Amino acid sequence: MHDYLTRLREMREKALLGGGQDKISQQHQKGKLTARERLALLLDEGSFQELGALATHDITEFGLDSQRFPGDGVVTGFGRINGRRVAVFAQDFTVLGGSFGTVQSNKICRVQDLAIESGIPLIGLNDSGGARIQEGVRSLAAYGEVFMRNVLASGVIPQISVILGPCAGGAVYSPALMDFVIMTRDTSFMFLTGPEVIKAVTGRDVTVQELGGAEAHSTLSGCTHLVADSEQEAIEEVKVLLSYLPQNNNEDPPRITPYDPPERMDAELDTIIPVEEKEPYDMRRVIEMVFDRDSVLEIHPYFACNAIVGFARLDGYAVGVVGNQPMHLAGSLDIDSSDKISRFTRICDTYNVPIVTFVDTPGFLPGVEQEYGGVIRHGAKIIYGYSAATVPKISIVVRKAIGGAYVAMSSKQLRCDLNFAWPTGQIAVMGPDGAVRILRRKEIKAAKDPVALEREFVQQYREAFFNPYRAADLGQIDEVIEPHETRPRLIRALEVLRTKVQLNPSRKHGLIPS
Ligand code: HXC
Repeated sequence: MHDYLTRLREMREKALLGGGQDKISQQHQKGKLTARERLALLLDEGSFQELGALATHDITEFGLDSQRFPGDGVVTGFGRINGRRVAVFAQDFTVLGGSFGTVQSNKICRVQDLAIESGIPLIGLNDSGGARIQEGVRSLAAYGEVFMRNVLASGVIPQISVILGPCAGGAVYSPALMDFVIMTRDTSFMFLTGPEVIKAVTGRDVTVQELGGAEAHSTLSGCTHLVADSEQEAIEEVKVLLSYLPQNNNEDPPRITPYDPPERMDAELDTIIPVEEKEPYDMRRVIEMVFDRDSVLEIHPYFACNAIVGFARLDGYAVGVVGNQPMHLAGSLDIDSSDKISRFTRICDTYNVPIVTFVDTPGFLPGVEQEYGGVIRHGAKIIYGYSAATVPKISIVVRKAIGGAYVAMSSKQLRCDLNFAWPTGQIAVMGPDGAVRILRRKEIKAAKDPVALEREFVQQYREAFFNPYRAADLGQIDEVIEPHETRPRLIRALEVLRTKVQLNPSRKHGLIPS
């Protein structure tokens, strides 16, 4: 064999080993896979085309000259997932803890640029000790290059970040700028400042997992959208997520071969709303019955549980689903659920995914903390998201649609295309008790039997206002439908709306309340 081929092959073999066999064994002992093992799980067999496998750093200070590893701390390139092209990078913890420096940045930026230009999704597998300390401020500049490209790619190509190990300091901002974040339970963590600094500054003791583990980010901070029990499961979640998304913002999501009859009607829907109006029921069950069997992928399932958002399929087509969840906080809207809903509607609009909204909310959650926390500006995001979205939008008022929440949750006035209601719908400015107390206070006070009169007024209000018929009469609801008809009605409605064209006024960008 020619010498030059031998040399290339030796270098390639060395690159395959990352930081070396010992480091690979340590990685396995921690219950983690290597960057290349992860890519092998993620990509269709034989589809990976690597770029930058031989790149090494050129820094000589702090002994780094003796620690050159071909490929540096990241494996980058292209491949296919279920036949669809994707760009990938996987940080290699076996090389100097996957620490991030100029070479890692150059390699990631290269695939970011090519992904944006080719219009294909970008998937990042994160496992890194953060900025490479030896590279000093060069590593900070290197992060900036990646963040800037994350922003340019935003809304153009799907970006999915999977956290499979440490992700600390400024490193968190690349995942945070991407569309979806997936974390593995127990083996990954994300935080800006770690437990030691927090202890020093605030005196508070907190463990790494309590502070930045998947549990914390999936329930409290909302910084991760999905959690997986293993790396294999996390990678599977990437594939499922991608199946609902187009390659870029100029395409529609792929349709899968329909497997659930479009005319299927579930009689359980007709009785799912309890007779007692304050009794909760599970909106998840409604959603499961309406969409194609087992097609629902909930996003943020453990965060702001008073709202449900996720992808599903109708007759094989991808749709985005939003719903209020009466099982939590009676389905009221608060700061976190406003963020959850508005972010999701914008993702759907960006990627040409129609939005179906199931409404059952008594309104925005009253409370001093909510007001001080900015529920006004957070709630405004829901209105912004629905109003600005030009994808097909359909809503179904299932029970309560009261006050500002009626307007915010995909009302006709926010350019919702078709508004349906079930006969159980209660569309009104406010609930009957409050309304009667305001409007009829004097008469009730003067009555011989104030309780009986109040009851009578409440009944009158219910009949006059607290139903879907007034709104249907006024055209705010297009049709009152029987609950079991929902699936075929939605499928037919989306068939009509598939060719919808709607434009927003030309501008640089809007100013979403934040
Ligand atoms: C250089 C690093 C490194 C780093 C880890 N290593 N982090 N090298 N720069 N940032 C090296 C270690 O020296 C070690 O090398 C190898 O990676 C594995 O690290 P260990 O500590 O042995 O592994 P482990 O016990 O699993 O701990 C992993 C860790 C810890 C939790 C990530 O290494 C750690 O806390 N690292 C520092 C994290 C950090 O503070 N990063 C900077 C954040 S600030 P050897 O040769 O011994 O195997 C930041 C600012 C960016 O990122 C701002 C951008 C805007």
